[in-house]
Amino acid sequence: ATTLGASAAEQGRYFGTAVAAYKLSDSTYSGILNREFNSVTAENEMKWDATEPTQGSFSYGSADQIVARAKSIGAKVRGHALAWHQQQPGWAQNMSGTALRNAMLNHVTQVATHYKGQIDSWDVVNEAFADGSSGARRDSNLQRTGNDWIEAAFRAARTADPAAKLCYNDYNTDGQNAKSNAVFAMVQDFKARGVPIDCVGFQSHFNAQSPLPSDYQANLQRFANLGVDVQITELDIEGSGTAQANAYGSAVRACLAVTRCNGITVWGIRDSDSWRASGTPLLFDNSGNKKAAYTAALDAL
Ligand code: XIL
Repeated sequence: ATTLGASAAEQGRYFGTAVAAYKLSDSTYSGILNREFNSVTAENEMKWDATEPTQGSFSYGSADQIVARAKSIGAKVRGHALAWHQQQPGWAQNMSGTALRNAMLNHVTQVATHYKGQIDSWDVVNEAFADGSSGARRDSNLQRTGNDWIEAAFRAARTADPAAKLCYNDYNTDGQNAKSNAVFAMVQDFKARGVPIDCVGFQSHFNAQSPLPSDYQANLQRFANLGVDVQITELDIEGSGTAQANAYGSAVRACLAVTRCNGITVWGIRDSDSWRASGTPLLFDNSGNKKAAYTAALDAL
């Protein structure tokens, strides 16, 4: 096939992108989105600050626009993210204890219910583990409500939308290291105790300091062996030219080599759409032209 989405579909996978609702009216952006991708993730629009700016008062307009576009082009939707220490509304940032726990669970329930039946995979919990060698949970207001906050969030999401696949998502877990080992132990424990979890997302933000790990495929495979799907959820790779193209090809091949790696999402369309302050980490240049990285990704599918 001649597009990322159609080629991935031939392999039983999806190829998605992060989407910003305010860019949907940009014809270059929209044209590429509609042509190339068969999955979308709201870049910011489903986060807590966007969907519940005031406690108990929900605002879904921008996220609904993205879901509507997905439906019109036949794309899946990855929900991102129900519970996260970042991009919380101010009112939640100032909460703690039982009040915060209940607010978080209500948020999970309300948002997952609003999108019931429309989400392929939800990032139920995002970035809950600490960087470095500790293997510990990240300190956050949510973590301080009790170590069981993650499983409580997953149970609430399952009850609200039983058909959605429920994912844990994180960064710097792409290779085997202390952080990914800690996530691995949590998933193993959830599986053993019947806590609902269906997938693990690997953000895969790569740069010169943190390149594609040599054990990327092996790490995806060890998680898949626990009985969960694995997904590359926020792929971007700093660099340019052949080196960048080769890295994109390797990332796509790593996923395809793992039967349960069922989808890849890049974190934006054109280089100018990237959240990164500088650099050229995506598949299309600022004018929307296909880069060598695009061709390498397509050829790897
Ligand atoms: C980023 C968005 O791309 C930016 O627009 C926003 O300002 C900050 O968040 N990990 C995640 C994503 O899980 O939600 C982040 O998205 C990038 C890092």
